[in-house]
Amino acid sequence: MTPDGTLRGFIDDVDRVVGTTDDEHEITKQVAALLSALLAGGYRLPPEATRPSKEHHVNYPLHIAPGDSWCLVSVVWSPGQRTPVHGHETWGVVGIHSGAERETRYLKPAGGPGRPLTPAGEQVWQRGEVTVCCTTDDDVHAVTAVGDAPTVGIHVYGGNIGTMRRRLYDPATGEVRWLVSGWDVPDAGARS
Ligand SMILES: [Fe+2]
Repeated sequence: MTPDGTLRGFIDDVDRVVGTTDDEHEITKQVAALLSALLAGGYRLPPEATRPSKEHHVNYPLHIAPGDSWCLVSVVWSPGQRTPVHGHETWGVVGIHSGAERETRYLKPAGGPGRPLTPAGEQVWQRGEVTVCCTTDDDVHAVTAVGDAPTVGIHVYGGNIGTMRRRLYDPATGEVRWLVSGWDVPDAGARS
């Protein structure tokens, strides 16, 4: 998908931030401000980047920076779809383009596997809201799409999130599995 002019400007702004500092807390603060402004300005993704799948939530790449230094993603859920409890192993910022999602957070386990995860709160995010979902040291959550309409999020991550090895957690036991999520391909057809 080729970014339109508005999204191109956002990508250039994030490039500047990522090129200025390695501090994840500073990057996420600045990217969150940029993403809030993008959504407050009424930015709408093209329809092919907002199509849900009946099977599972989908990740459409909007931009992958050279060297996989960061990426921009449209994440789309049908109502009721949910992620497993997962980590990101990098920083990330999430803005709600449409619909709503419930985020359930957990503390990142410091020790080895074998202990239940510690819940760290739950929040519903609505259209236009932006949250720092993760820094490398605090990156564990699960997300459920809530409401009657599909949920679409614009996500920014500090790497190529589709090719990175990431953790999936069993919150009851702390057991870890590793996953590479891959990417979904926007379909210009009439899939629903
Ligand atoms: Fe996530």
